[in-house]
Amino acid sequence: MKVYRLDPIGNLDAIKMFDEPDPKPGPKQIVIRMRAASLNYRDYKVITGTYGHNETKERLIPLSDGAGEVVELGEGVSRVKIGDRVMPIFGQRWLAGKINPVYSTFSLGGQSDGVLAERIVLSEEGVVVIPSHLSFEEAATLPCAAMTAWHALFSRGQLTAGQSVLTLGTGGVSLFAAQFAQLAGARVMMISGSDSKIARLKDMGIDSVVNYNTNPDWHRAILDLTQGQGVDHVVELGGPGTMEKSLRCLRMGGSLYMIGNLAGEAKIDPRLILAKRANVHGIQVGSREMFESMNQAITIAQLHPVIDRCFEFDKAREAYEYLAARKHFGKIVIRGT
Ligand SMILES: NC(=O)c1ccc[n+]([C@@H]2O[C@H](COP(=O)([O-])OP(=O)(O)OC[C@H]3O[C@@H](n4cnc5c(N)ncnc54)[C@H](OP(=O)(O)O)[C@@H]3O)[C@@H](O)[C@H]2O)c1
Repeated sequence: MKVYRLDPIGNLDAIKMFDEPDPKPGPKQIVIRMRAASLNYRDYKVITGTYGHNETKERLIPLSDGAGEVVELGEGVSRVKIGDRVMPIFGQRWLAGKINPVYSTFSLGGQSDGVLAERIVLSEEGVVVIPSHLSFEEAATLPCAAMTAWHALFSRGQLTAGQSVLTLGTGGVSLFAAQFAQLAGARVMMISGSDSKIARLKDMGIDSVVNYNTNPDWHRAILDLTQGQGVDHVVELGGPGTMEKSLRCLRMGGSLYMIGNLAGEAKIDPRLILAKRANVHGIQVGSREMFESMNQAITIAQLHPVIDRCFEFDKAREAYEYLAARKHFGKIVIRGT
């Protein structure tokens, strides 16, 4: 089979394709023929050696997010059958309950080999079934980006109809957060650095948007849009460079979900958390149980992820270059062979 490995990490030259024997399943394991994979900002950090979460495996098969069909079963498999359409879960050991240090390791495309291969082997426990209305390309966008947005707003947060959600940028996590908030009947507010992307948000029915490049005091503009009241939930994807402004956007008693690390360095005054009586949550992707709840909602709503562009399997490097250029709106997908 064809498989990509990062050899060695450091820059985009690391991504190389190899021919290797097809993997064989052990007891309770399954072989998945991968039909699509998708990229996250994390994958750029991994390939450039700046990820910083524990050790990245040597000669790693990259990417955590993918979708495919079960083609072979190891001894004793009972959870899935041949032909099932499945998505791997991001943290292979986090099936249910609260996060712990063990569950936060064994993530695909980081500490463990990922999905950018024609075939992969996983535990039968490490997958969920794809909602039937989604293509493989669409399903491949869910395991990290959608799961993280869902975890923040519904598993940890208590988002209800009539509340407001601010989410930063127009990348994968942010657009899922916006779509989920719309589903819940919440008001969606966003910031983006691009007027052409802001126009696309308007097509999605999202018009409370501020350009953070032309309006560096975007937090004031967001507060103005709420008549000074502030927003109920902030999906914080910028990290150190945006968190202080995000806290200023909160209404008193609101919730901030600390997820990302897109935007530079800055000092944050922790007294702002007290001033806003804020609930600040650190979020890591999600468990299999959360993934299954999210899939139910996606199915009932017949929600389709926003895919910017699909690359063929032999164009993986171009897909990484496109991610690095940050021109995308939503998800970047690599098709299987
Ligand atoms: N904690 C977790 O478990 C977890 C899970 C998933 C992702 N993450 C993190 O969440 C972040 C987003 O990931 P992703 O995969 O969704 O990224 P992505 O698809 O690459 O999205 C990046 C987008 O963020 C926006 N952006 C860039 N700089 C910004 C800034 N200074 N202020 C506001 N927005 C900015 C840009 O949108 P515009 O062009 O519209 O401005 C850019 O296109 C990353 O830091 C990632 O590592 C964490």
